[in-house]
Amino acid sequence: MKIIGLNSGEYNSSACFIEDGIIKFAVQEERLNRQKFTKKFPTSSIKEILKNRNLKLSDIDYIGVGWNPSLHMNLFNPLISENRILRENNLYTISDNLFNLTKREFGNYTLVKHDNKKFPDIYHVNHHISHASTAFYLSNLKEAAILTCDFRGENQCTTWGFGKNNKIKILQSQNMPNSLGLMYATYTSLLGFKPDSDEWKVMAMSAYDIDCTNYIKKIKSTYSLKKNGILELNQKYYFNFYQEGVKNHLYTNELLKLLNRSSTIYKTTQNKDDIKIAKALQVCAEEILVHFLNHLFKITKCKNVVLGGGFFMNSVFNGKIETKTKFKNSYISFAPTDTGNSIGSALYIYHDIKNRPRKTINSTALLGSSFKNKDILKSLKRRNIKYLKLKDFAKTVSRECAKGSVVAYFRNKMEFGDRALGCRSIIADPRFLETKDKINKSVKYRESFRPFAPSVISEECSKYFNVLKGYTYNYMERVVKVKSQYRQKLQAITHLDNSARVHTVEKKDNPDFYKILKEFQKITSFPILLNTSFNVNGEPIVCTPDDAISTFYNSKIDVLVIGDYMVKKI
Ligand SMILES: [Fe+2]
Repeated sequence: MKIIGLNSGEYNSSACFIEDGIIKFAVQEERLNRQKFTKKFPTSSIKEILKNRNLKLSDIDYIGVGWNPSLHMNLFNPLISENRILRENNLYTISDNLFNLTKREFGNYTLVKHDNKKFPDIYHVNHHISHASTAFYLSNLKEAAILTCDFRGENQCTTWGFGKNNKIKILQSQNMPNSLGLMYATYTSLLGFKPDSDEWKVMAMSAYDIDCTNYIKKIKSTYSLKKNGILELNQKYYFNFYQEGVKNHLYTNELLKLLNRSSTIYKTTQNKDDIKIAKALQVCAEEILVHFLNHLFKITKCKNVVLGGGFFMNSVFNGKIETKTKFKNSYISFAPTDTGNSIGSALYIYHDIKNRPRKTINSTALLGSSFKNKDILKSLKRRNIKYLKLKDFAKTVSRECAKGSVVAYFRNKMEFGDRALGCRSIIADPRFLETKDKINKSVKYRESFRPFAPSVISEECSKYFNVLKGYTYNYMERVVKVKSQYRQKLQAITHLDNSARVHTVEKKDNPDFYKILKEFQKITSFPILLNTSFNVNGEPIVCTPDDAISTFYNSKIDVLVIGDYMVKKI
């Protein structure tokens, strides 16, 4: 069975290809059209899949989409249902009017079929079901409690569910506007950052050691936690989009008053109150998530939990699940955001709708395009770039890093998801603070408080970081503490609160990158490298050799390692 899954219409469009339950290819549209977080229909991604797998659209059995428009077609009611002008709107109008004769129960998906037998059937899977599917099916767990939490889906913003074998059931859900994602976005916006985008900057700010008790009290007064896991936001403070004077803002004047804020303009340097608000928000968000999870444990009594939805990019909270709740085992995929819903919707069709049994999924994020040396060479020669063919790439790369160079590293299949995991990465020596500053100032042009992640050989991780026994951290999905004896020795990857968003590298997943870490250990004694995505601030991660070369020359990166070749700036 061949399925293409899509995330379309939401930020970070993407497409994936699944054959008989196995993910064969996945790519984000931004990597191809070079527009970061693009919302455009993933045409290039679909073409890339068809080219890569040598298929035509007519070879595909089903298309999955991680959004179900049926769930909000009543937004057209009561007037437009009868007055839609465009005839193509009949696709909705007929159903909509018929739903008006019922209790408007839509189920988990909407199927669009065409008489053209060569054209695949299209399943519009509910947004949160798609998040739940990505989390559950990629976890390889036979059964798990499922929590999804994001900015918003069609109407839902949080769901509590349960997965068993090949089936997923949503047990309870919470609709807009009582959204934790929107609440976090509100403060992101109020602090001058871009909501539904820069929340992780606010999360990074929360690491400062500062007393924020007063702000915690204030933020707590804006919501209440109800029985049955529910969050209720006081609408006086949030999302009054059309209130006079605050149009287009998530925050209200009442919230500004409560926090004594007059300015919500972005500043390159954050003041004490900005930092206190960020920290207080993170504390409150964690309290709310624990409330959600405690309820989930109560209704499922399952020790496993899987988490999906954009909120679980909050790696600070992700690192605390086992210590703050009764769950013994948690899983967060490499793509908890909407971009992963291409995978979630496709797997939902295969397992739940078509009732196919689970298979062990090689849950790797390395699902995108790769390039052969001959393609790379063409790109280098076309630009008359002087290069060196590497005899032993791992030795050369590790030596360059140990010398203090900032190295752009391009090799193997491109990662799917928002994080670079050692295939389209900028890497450097993790030992010295100057490296962090150098990358921040000359490549990433970003706020100084934002940390860089360490990549570490999986089996040696527990020597340097306080990690949970038996866990891998293969997707940089959780923040943990750096062990006290290494904090001074690993300054470039140790954040303000002595934490690090650790990335464990397993030999079976990424043998080349693993080899580099081994070689770096021989020189420095540390099997660890600083790893950040290979892009300059505001651009998507590089995809092709041409992107890699342009980004290299448009930044102050010292060395480019691309396939088996190395380029240095003269
Ligand atoms: Fe979402």
